[in-house]
Amino acid sequence: MGSAGGRPERWLGELEAHAQAFVKCFGASSGPRLFFSPGRVNLMGGHLDYNGGPVMPTAVDRGTFIAARPRADRRLALLSTREKGRFERDLESLPAARAGRWFDYPVGVAREILDLSRGAGVEARLSGAEILFGGNLAVGAGLSSSASICVGTAVALDRLWGLGLARVDLVHAALRAERQFVGVRCGIMDPYAVGFAREGHLLWLDCKDASSEHIPLDLVRCSVAVADTGVRRELARGSFNERVAQCAAAFEILRDHCPEATCLRDVPLPLFESRRSDLEPTIARRAEHVLHEVQRTFAAKQELLRGDIPAFGATMARAHASLRDLFEVSVPELDQLVESAVACPGVHGARLTGAGFGGCAVVLLEAGAREEFAARLAREFQARFGRAPTIDFYGGDSGPREIGL
Ligand code: GLA
Repeated sequence: MGSAGGRPERWLGELEAHAQAFVKCFGASSGPRLFFSPGRVNLMGGHLDYNGGPVMPTAVDRGTFIAARPRADRRLALLSTREKGRFERDLESLPAARAGRWFDYPVGVAREILDLSRGAGVEARLSGAEILFGGNLAVGAGLSSSASICVGTAVALDRLWGLGLARVDLVHAALRAERQFVGVRCGIMDPYAVGFAREGHLLWLDCKDASSEHIPLDLVRCSVAVADTGVRRELARGSFNERVAQCAAAFEILRDHCPEATCLRDVPLPLFESRRSDLEPTIARRAEHVLHEVQRTFAAKQELLRGDIPAFGATMARAHASLRDLFEVSVPELDQLVESAVACPGVHGARLTGAGFGGCAVVLLEAGAREEFAARLAREFQARFGRAPTIDFYGGDSGPREIGL
């Protein structure tokens, strides 16, 4: 189990090993530059980003390691310590379609950054690059390993190529790569949470207009625990896209009665209630979750601002129940973790984080309650599923950056 708090620089030893692995992969002509890009947990606003609602994520001190070095030629070579398969192509001939492999993410980002450099008229002078990816963030666990790799790649290429692009442009390059090249219909939350992270804060992000503010979260008084079910669903991407389509379908019907609405978040609850029978029952449950979650997330912001962590935690637990019963993205393993967690003394609240369908629960608890909480969670999960979940305590992070060794 990891220790609480701390900065990603506590991974310096691992980063050093990553630099050595780079030399083994690509040769020792000169040392690589090293970058760290965090993952994120979302505490409130489940499945709201693509409905234009507010979300409350925070970056964690686990993430992607990127070792990168320019090449004399125009080739882009990509390897990973965590995945099989090498990618290598000239910058001129990067593929136009995804391959269904891990490197789709950085390739998609490289295409976007090249486009931006073409717009600035500097593309012809760019060198190739060799990049080794790695890190210590669970993949496919709802901690946004994909935004971590995408925003991290954008930042690394921007530095390597000396482009000096604005952070918001890098975040949007990462988002386009994931949406258009990799093909996930994700909202803006993950790349914003990673790209605009501030240590010791949650990001309040209103996904309707991308306005944001940082709200302090006292990580000395409170601990953020992440409990991983170990469940990974092959079909998760399809089910996620299906939820996006169902919310869009709800909005298509409701907007006729609400001309000023530009997204599902805008539909007033009373209007939804009065039109509920126009919607197919499944679609109505999805909309019901979204509209109540919008209200819960605004309430949670006020609770946090007035320092009422127990109320904030109770709101998280209500969000989980809605994700389970109305949005139907939980699994028994997640429900077990949340149930055990909220029954523990010193736990403020718990819910699934990320898209769901497996992955992790996030738990907010008093720092002093950690040991008893972790033991109880593990014991009860083990008794029901015959194996232990991974439970860890995460510190915050300040976003993607170059790390000098
Ligand atoms: C995934 C997506 C996010 C968001 C969450 C659910 O993590 O990538 O954009 O929709 O699910 O809140």
